[in-house]
Amino acid sequence: MIVGSTKEDLTLEKRVSLTPETAKNIIGLGLKVFIEKDYASHLGIQDKDYTNIGVEIKSSSNEVLSSCNMLIKVNCPSENEIKSLREKTILIGMLDLSKNKKKVNEIIKKKVSTFSLELLPRITRAQSMDVLSSQSNLAGYRAVIDSIFEFDKAIPMMMTAAGTVPAAKVLVIGAGVAGLQAIATAKRLGAIVSATDVRSASKEQVESLGGKFLTVEQTENMETEGGYAKEASDDYKKKQAEMMHQALKKNDIVICTALIPGKPAPRILSEDLVKLMKPGSIVYDLAAEQGGNSAFSEVGKINVVEGVKIIGVKNLMNRLPLTASSLYAKNLFSFIRNLFSKEKKDFNINLEDEIISKTLIKEV
Ligand code: NAI
Repeated sequence: MIVGSTKEDLTLEKRVSLTPETAKNIIGLGLKVFIEKDYASHLGIQDKDYTNIGVEIKSSSNEVLSSCNMLIKVNCPSENEIKSLREKTILIGMLDLSKNKKKVNEIIKKKVSTFSLELLPRITRAQSMDVLSSQSNLAGYRAVIDSIFEFDKAIPMMMTAAGTVPAAKVLVIGAGVAGLQAIATAKRLGAIVSATDVRSASKEQVESLGGKFLTVEQTENMETEGGYAKEASDDYKKKQAEMMHQALKKNDIVICTALIPGKPAPRILSEDLVKLMKPGSIVYDLAAEQGGNSAFSEVGKINVVEGVKIIGVKNLMNRLPLTASSLYAKNLFSFIRNLFSKEKKDFNINLEDEIISKTLIKEV
């Protein structure tokens, strides 16, 4: 059995799905691993780092695709790769079904068993495979680092002979995976941190990280049974805007991470609210690619409105591709290990396993 991986489109994606560490683990299961030459050289990982542990290097992606039983990727394969995919191969990646419907249907037509890791159920057994959590956690961290880079003042309080520098104030909107890491990172760097979320359950988590929880008086239950947020009612949005009105005047950096699964990003900061912020303030919109939590946010751009910089994120994982690849590859290995039967020495697509049945794409 051969597990193969080919290069991503480097103009869009710097992460890789196989690191030397996880290649070693896959080989440890008794499988062979093939990759395309110069697979991760853009990350400083050379072919010899892979061959040293038993990986075979092929001179083209075609050679990998025409021999592997399982193909692992970060993103959906290209049209050319799809043409070369053999029937009955297994494909695993983050296939972004809403963007790649046509390509994924083509792949399924080739009788390729196609798994998309964004569909993993959020159950305890799947935690080690949870790519959305591993990548969002890094996104929350990097959002704070990038915001500080764009901010023209210091973050921690400093008492100097020349006078005292006050600590910067950071507000995090949405206290999910990315939001909680943003709170922890801003706190570690010395900021005064507050956060808000529609789910009252997040209050305890925010406070345990040393953040102040800002809440909206409400009677509605804003949480689904699966623990995700519901879309806010007009009444809630009005109250939230009133709360923001006060908070935005005081804060220097706002990190936006609000998300409702399967829906466009909720618009939380209107044009008027952004304009309330002090000149020099930063709005960092992690949800820009889903439509944005903030007015004036545009994917891949920094817009300056009345002195406030609104940063619309694009391909954030490309700013820490080594760490992102390392975690993604580990998630992927856990998934492969669950799919592999040691007794049969083969992959076992057991549809009674919730992890397997929920990630296997039947049709788009
Ligand atoms: P998550 O689902 O863990 O957290 C989102 C949070 O927003 C939840 O706690 C939810 O209750 C809260 N929320 C929903 N509606 C709200 C509202 N109206 N007001 C306040 N809070 C609200 O999501 P996660 O994984 O933390 O991702 C956050 C955002 O970061 C998403 O938009 C995601 O796509 C983006 N992201 C972007 C990356 C990039 O490379 N550009 C990488 C990873 C995440």
